Amino acid sequence: MRGSVGVRGAKNAVLKSMAAALIFEDPLTLSNVPQIEDVARMGELLRALGARVTEGEGTCTIDTSGVKGGEVDDKLARTLRASIVLTGLLLARFGSVSFPHPGGDVIGERPIDLFLEGFQKMGASVSRSGERYEVTARGGLAGAEIFFRFVSVTGTETLMMAAILAKGTTVLRNAAMEPEIVELAEFLVSCGATIVGAGSPTIIIQGGGMLRSMGKEFRTIPDRIEAGTFLLLGALCAEELTITDCEPAHFEMLTELLRQSGALIKEEKTSVTVRGGIQPKPLAIRTHEYPGFATDLQPPMVVYLSQAAGESSVFETIWGGRLAYTQHLVEMGAHITLWNPQQITIKGPTPLKARPLESPDIRAGLAFLMAAAIAEGESTIDHVYHIDRGYERIEERLRGIGLDIQRE
Ligand code: EPU
Repeated sequence: MRGSVGVRGAKNAVLKSMAAALIFEDPLTLSNVPQIEDVARMGELLRALGARVTEGEGTCTIDTSGVKGGEVDDKLARTLRASIVLTGLLLARFGSVSFPHPGGDVIGERPIDLFLEGFQKMGASVSRSGERYEVTARGGLAGAEIFFRFVSVTGTETLMMAAILAKGTTVLRNAAMEPEIVELAEFLVSCGATIVGAGSPTIIIQGGGMLRSMGKEFRTIPDRIEAGTFLLLGALCAEELTITDCEPAHFEMLTELLRQSGALIKEEKTSVTVRGGIQPKPLAIRTHEYPGFATDLQPPMVVYLSQAAGESSVFETIWGGRLAYTQHLVEMGAHITLWNPQQITIKGPTPLKARPLESPDIRAGLAFLMAAAIAEGESTIDHVYHIDRGYERIEERLRGIGLDIQRE
């Protein structure tokens, strides 16, 4: 493989900016919107609420003036974790919201206690009616001091946005610091919100009511997980690969680790080039909240480490079930020992053999695709819907850099 591949807008940024349309009195236009299944699903969820969602070439305009209440669609929300971000905004705007436990990937338990506790601290009452949560705050939400027991990305985003529509000041402590949160806060501030500290563990939000975008476009930042995955793929099996349209500062931890393992990487302002074909040295990886090593890059990193000479270790600290897919890499010939659901060691290098595979979730699906790329023989990957949830037309883009891949 060789050549260059462009990075699309970030899934985990755009899903939240689509939800953010609920804070705006006027239509909100997003650009650099990736064409992925999760974006389509979030669009459907907003439409089901009464919003008008218009898609253009890489853009999406959302007008939420027709949304009259907070009944989140049951079936759609059960398939999309990011649906939880809608709940805080609907609650703040309409004084009540009802929604099911949000779904998403099967990567471990995904509780929502931090969200419910946050809503309660802001004056809401929470009850369960059958399979749905009912949250009400008839007089609106009130600013509060909220300390997160776990660093939560969507928790931080949800409460940060709800606080804009609350009365008074909200302080979020032990907040997540992901670049997607910083970009979201900066855009909201540019439209009149008062938010200080996004990107640090303490975020202070002054409630102020609905915002107006006045036609200003919100450009989606490049997907740092997609960029990082391409970088790992390049280091693993490309002669030379340039990853363009990305923000190298957003995946510095990965670049540092890859350099430690011997990869040759050159960073420019919006691109990064890696020379492959170098025998990787083993690494000890521990997933961590940003700016640590992203859990969403853990599966492609494991495939890379299966080709490192020596023993590597991976400690998945965020998701309890996110190493289950490694059993299929073992079936392909990788030497991986699962010590407990969150810790593995990998002895390499071992040649991999092609196998029929099923994509269990977005990130493991792409890791299987990488494993198939280096395996001897032809692999078939089923359930590619999961890959399409997060990566736009992946087969076309990887074919462009020399991978022999077809969609059937
Ligand atoms: N947690 C709780 N209670 C809560 C919320 C979270 O205990 O109420 C725990 C979780 O169980 C987990 C930890 O806190 O152990 C972190 O979860 P977080 O809330 O940060 O995860 P998330 O916001 O649901 C987002 C991404 C994930 C990514 C994680 C961590 C979106 C839509 N999803 O999930 O992305 O893995 O942050 O970085 O932004 C993916 O894209 O493949 C993906 C799974």
